[in-house]
Amino acid sequence: MHIDLSGRTALVSGSTQGIGLAIAERLADCGAHVVVNGRDPGRTDAAARDLRSRVPAAEVTPVAADLATAAGATELAQRFPALDVVVNNLGIFGARPALEIDDAEWLRYFEVNVLSAVRLIRTYLPGMMARRWGRVISIASDSAVVVPEEMIHYGMTKTALLSVTRGFAKAARGSGVTVNSVIAGPTHTAGVESFVAELVGDELPWDEAQREFMRTHRPLSLIERLIEPAEIANLVAYLASDAASATTGGALRVDGGYVDSILP
Ligand SMILES: NC(=O)c1ccc[n+]([C@@H]2O[C@H](COP(=O)([O-])OP(=O)(O)OC[C@H]3O[C@@H](n4cnc5c(N)ncnc54)[C@H](OP(=O)(O)O)[C@@H]3O)[C@@H](O)[C@H]2O)c1
Repeated sequence: MHIDLSGRTALVSGSTQGIGLAIAERLADCGAHVVVNGRDPGRTDAAARDLRSRVPAAEVTPVAADLATAAGATELAQRFPALDVVVNNLGIFGARPALEIDDAEWLRYFEVNVLSAVRLIRTYLPGMMARRWGRVISIASDSAVVVPEEMIHYGMTKTALLSVTRGFAKAARGSGVTVNSVIAGPTHTAGVESFVAELVGDELPWDEAQREFMRTHRPLSLIERLIEPAEIANLVAYLASDAASATTGGALRVDGGYVDSILP
């Protein structure tokens, strides 16, 4: 399928590395003007350079802003009053025993992982609806459905994103704007190789090591390997395109079959 996003401007929040950077690359490759984002100007500039080296025709604008804050969202809106595609990718995660997560940590996770997306949707959805075209895509996780005991605060935020998505899709009813979430499964991002080595040892070649890791520590996966960020980016690019015009309010999975369910 040829995906043409030329003429569209797309923000990918939290795109200096990992899944966000892969999504930014894929959208740029499809011809979109991509706004790459992170908190540090050095890192956003480096991400923009990296994208231009891999997609020579890429139109990329780095914006350093902490999008987990209202001030950061306002800063972005001043630079880009209108966007065609908003990808809420930014998210934090970390393990903590359930009974040790205090109020401040619950609120921090909600603010960074959920409120950041809600603010951007509130900022950009009205313009998209007025122009009768727009795409909002939020990156959720298998943890939204299979809530990990060691990070229920993270799971809560990803479940909330599914709900936020469904609700705003209703708010955009009949406007030509679609609002969806993507349930990403365990993904090969920075740091994961050392995490895998910690758990299965460092004697095995990477491919075997990750398969061993998945079989032993992520046995729900049906592909028995980590997902590559580009595989998540492929679904995001499709959802951002004209071709996905009848898909809205959904939670679409790139989870390697991790969630043991026919739906969502
Ligand atoms: N990795 C997985 O296996 C996995 C699985 C399922 C879902 N997900 C979800 O996929 C998304 C991306 O995950 P990832 O593993 O690629 O993340 P990551 O490697 O930790 O990267 C996070 C990105 O977000 C940026 N960021 C963090 N806080 C920010 C803030 N307040 N404002 C702006 N940017 C901020 C970071 O940039 P700077 O540090 O430069 O600011 C970085 O570019 C997350 O929503 C995560 O929950 C990940």
